[in-house]
Amino acid sequence: MSSFEKKNGVLHAEGVSLRDIAAKTGTPTYVYSSAHIKGQLQALQGAMSAALPADRQPLLCYACKANSNLAVLSLLRGQGSGLEIVSEGELARGLRAGFDPAKIVSTGVGKQRSEIAACLNAGIAQLNVESLPELLHIQEIAAEIGKTARVVFRLNPNVSGGGHDKISTGQKHHKFGLNEAQVFEGFKMAQSMSHVEAMGLSIHIGSQVFTVDSFETAFGKLPGIVKDLRAQGHDISRLDIGGGFPIQYKDEKLLDLDAYARWVRDIILPLETQIIMEPGRYLVGNAGVLLTEVLYAKETPDRNFLIVDAAMNDLMRPALYGSYHAIEPVQNHDAPEKIYDVAGPVCESSDIFAKDRTLPEMKTGDLAVIRSAGAYGFSMASNYNTRALPAEVLVEGERWAIIRKRQSLEEILGADIAPEWV
Ligand code: LLP
Repeated sequence: MSSFEKKNGVLHAEGVSLRDIAAKTGTPTYVYSSAHIKGQLQALQGAMSAALPADRQPLLCYACKANSNLAVLSLLRGQGSGLEIVSEGELARGLRAGFDPAKIVSTGVGKQRSEIAACLNAGIAQLNVESLPELLHIQEIAAEIGKTARVVFRLNPNVSGGGHDKISTGQKHHKFGLNEAQVFEGFKMAQSMSHVEAMGLSIHIGSQVFTVDSFETAFGKLPGIVKDLRAQGHDISRLDIGGGFPIQYKDEKLLDLDAYARWVRDIILPLETQIIMEPGRYLVGNAGVLLTEVLYAKETPDRNFLIVDAAMNDLMRPALYGSYHAIEPVQNHDAPEKIYDVAGPVCESSDIFAKDRTLPEMKTGDLAVIRSAGAYGFSMASNYNTRALPAEVLVEGERWAIIRKRQSLEEILGADIAPEWV
């Protein structure tokens, strides 16, 4: 069910007209539906509680790289979610949003010393280790500040998974995780470390994983590895089985969550560990649209361009991955159709949201939405072309709030420093 539906011919986010939001906030603006976010979390929780015993429910740690607005984080925290972070900045966001550090896990191949220290000082649940030099750093820093670091080792299972080459992470040529031999080596090293407690393993194979088969293949060796590690005397009490749950951008056939939950029951549950998951896109992707205004309908002998005021700096996915995002007008859905290339104002040919897209005819001043923009939209936005970061709005029923102000030009320019000698 979409939380973005037409009412009286005008597209609404839940009970709020997108026209009203645009009138008050301007465009481009990201608009998120809290009902959708809650519904997605409940769907995942529901599938898990149907398949797994009540005392063995997984800890769902929202991968906030997908959308790290503090309001979104608070909303998810309020629904019982934990958090997956990849930087000190995301840790700060999580703590500011009130997450219990015991529900925060830290991943990433390049954890800096200050990040490791911040995680340890905050007392987060675990650091997911991605290299052996990182393990040495963690021991050193934990000893320095007098804390014990709980770690799991990220296994790179060397299988393909994830919808797009750039978002798949589990093959041996990827920079992520440790191979099997290194995982064993890591456990051995940790055994002799005074300030590290090795607790288990993590695997994240990539994003937009559509079939249980892909998980099955990726996790195939896991039970054997857990058994062997235990045989060597290591305590394996946690398995972090990552994220990657897909959403529909166009007409993709989605992962059967119940079948996935049954797979967790059959394969992961018998390993007798705490289970952690890291869903990102699934919780927020289709909860958001990017609301934009048509600047010009520009016709050339070859093509009809709709130049809109959102651009690749606001939503990078189409330019970066060639991703499909549905586009829809906010009003006048019944206008005669036309074939458009929908483009932003940035000075690059790749600043195109859609090519050859059939849409109702639009003109200057009309509003449109770019759908499925709640995940990896704002969080990947930049100031390219000195364009201000867009505003963000959260809707709940009939009420709505600006959850991030549009950036001002002064905020951008004010950060630059011209030395007197230039
Ligand atoms: N856990 C780890 C260790 C990850 O690296 C990621 C995503 C997730 C969890 C969450 O994955 P999800 O459930 O959202 O698929 N910018 C790309 C996606 C990059 C994903 C990076 N890692 C995009 O726009 O498609």
